[in-house]
Amino acid sequence: MNAIGTSLARIDGPAKVTGTAPYAYEHSVAAPAFLYPVTSTIARGSIVDIDSTAAERSDGVLAMLTPWNAPRLEDTSDGEYRLLQGLEVAFRGQPIGAVIAETPEQARHAQTLVRVEYDVGTHDTTFRTDAAGMYLPESANGGYETSTEEGDPDTAFARARADGVIVDGWYTTPEEHNNPMEPHTTVALWAEDAQELTLYDSTQGPHGVADTLGPILGLSPEQIRVIAPHVGGGFGSKGAPHAHDVLAALAAMTLPGRAVKFPVTRQQMFVFVGYRPPTASHVRIAANRDGGITALVHDAYSQSSHTKEFVEQTAVPSRSMYTAPHRRTSHRAVALDVPVPYWMRAPGEAPGMYAGEVAMDELAEACGIDPIELRVRNDPPVDPESGKPWASRRLVDCLREGAHRFGWETRPRPAGSRREGNALVGFGVASATYPHMINPGSKATIRLREDGRLGVQIDAVDIGTGTWTTLTLIAADALGCDPERIALEIGDTALPYGTVAGGSSGTSSWGSAILTAAREFRAKFGDDPLPGAEVTAESDTEPDDDYRIDSYGAHFVEARVDIHTGEITVPRMLGVFSIGRVVNPRTVRSQLLGGMTFGISMALFEESVRDGRFGHVVTQDLATYHFPTNADVRDIDAIWLDDVDERATPMGSRGAGEIGNVGSAAAVVNAVCNATGTRVRELPIHADDLL
Ligand code: MOS
Repeated sequence: MNAIGTSLARIDGPAKVTGTAPYAYEHSVAAPAFLYPVTSTIARGSIVDIDSTAAERSDGVLAMLTPWNAPRLEDTSDGEYRLLQGLEVAFRGQPIGAVIAETPEQARHAQTLVRVEYDVGTHDTTFRTDAAGMYLPESANGGYETSTEEGDPDTAFARARADGVIVDGWYTTPEEHNNPMEPHTTVALWAEDAQELTLYDSTQGPHGVADTLGPILGLSPEQIRVIAPHVGGGFGSKGAPHAHDVLAALAAMTLPGRAVKFPVTRQQMFVFVGYRPPTASHVRIAANRDGGITALVHDAYSQSSHTKEFVEQTAVPSRSMYTAPHRRTSHRAVALDVPVPYWMRAPGEAPGMYAGEVAMDELAEACGIDPIELRVRNDPPVDPESGKPWASRRLVDCLREGAHRFGWETRPRPAGSRREGNALVGFGVASATYPHMINPGSKATIRLREDGRLGVQIDAVDIGTGTWTTLTLIAADALGCDPERIALEIGDTALPYGTVAGGSSGTSSWGSAILTAAREFRAKFGDDPLPGAEVTAESDTEPDDDYRIDSYGAHFVEARVDIHTGEITVPRMLGVFSIGRVVNPRTVRSQLLGGMTFGISMALFEESVRDGRFGHVVTQDLATYHFPTNADVRDIDAIWLDDVDERATPMGSRGAGEIGNVGSAAAVVNAVCNATGTRVRELPIHADDLL
């Protein structure tokens, strides 16, 4: 291998910076029409009447969709996609109609003329851990078990109360919304012969969109073509189609032969496309006085919706992070009158490791042990959950390497003891982990083209993470040629099947398929194939099931807190990761830095404030939904251990997409505590928490 591991610049970079890379909205379609949704202004109840007379008479209006005239869906079992099929309102902002017009402005204006009469019900949109209706679901997101129990935690806690140390805390994360730079957008075109639906969609998985929408629309997946060559960020929300895809498809079906563009507005991003539900984690750890954990209990609570269940798998990482002979985990959820939560930036791991890694910091404090040493002492020799050996855990190496580079030995002790000018200064550390996954089913076609280049086709997708470039490197290695000779095609369901760019599984899944196809291509055609030589093959590899395979890492943060204003800054941040072989150092580093920035964001900025009186998020734009700017992200670096994990993928790589976002918020919180002596458990930290 020689292409893998080189820092090839983004192949799609020139097209992006010259504005010629088409995003979903920008695909050239003849005479498009434009959709603007009509959305509910109540959080619960039912529609009595929709008066669209004025809207329909408004300039440029082509069609008006309501629950009374919308095409019927074939499969209405999934509440999130059951658009305009009934009169029930289940959350504020729910799409209950649509105006389609000649221009976006005409559609948007006409929508203001629609009058809706409701039968208003009483709603509850306020998440509380003691809410009536809190329940134990069948499973949590990702198919994880709801609850686990090993040993006898209660007896271990009783023993620790007599002679040991206990930490017991509630850790909360607020509702948070995915806000990729490119909002979700769907352009839908229903063929005049009513046989094929084309969607230009901003998605993390074109084939997944077709597979999901096919049965709902009464089409076979082959009748739906989804095109997404460039996607401006995803962060999980684009991992599946949402209501807007169905609405655009319904609108297109009423206008055969005419494309309908539906760009979701920034404010609608806070309603239509999923979000991280608020979470609360009750974490209790019992330990010996030397810091050896004897029992760990993580009870997680989160918000779901009446429309569809989504249970954030918050307690899952606590099942395998540290040694604990006695352990219990659980997930509870409550359905409220809110939109459907969905994947967002390491669902489960991000809030769960926030809770667990702050609790570990508290345990270190309580035992009088350095927080790195505490983690080293509790590093399990085998996976506590499955009993399997680790393929390559190396968390301790990440902690030690980071400590050395960061200058951890100069950490202020005790907390609150270092003042420089008007700032209190502190260091914080936290571990990171993310599961390694290969999604089965990806296929690749390799073909020697007439122009002498090797065509590689797979319905992978580049959500800004570097897929165009990394898959080119993998293909070049597999075919033994220069990357310039590879002609990659991705982002289209007309290409061989590709799995989702989600769960940090994209490169692992698609890369494995390319390797399988390349091996068959070389076996069939040798070193001197003729133009036209072609092979299509499905990935034949999966992670070695005899081992527990995950990625690991450690975050180091310096925080400064102004003694007068409580303002927090993060002048330094370092992440050290164990992620196997790195396919493209340039794009992987960028993605890790992005994840770490999300950690600063989660700790100090992001917060969707839902107004219980009306049921909607009031911080529904980028002026009031805060996130870090360049001035907030200063000396930040991500490095990784030199490693090859062939048990994970044939490339030797592991998933690296989301781990930067795991544990990073905890490291910020722990640094703030080291600076000030104040322990904040509710995110985000506000200045007044420290004053
Ligand atoms: Mo990631 S939140 O699984 O797309």
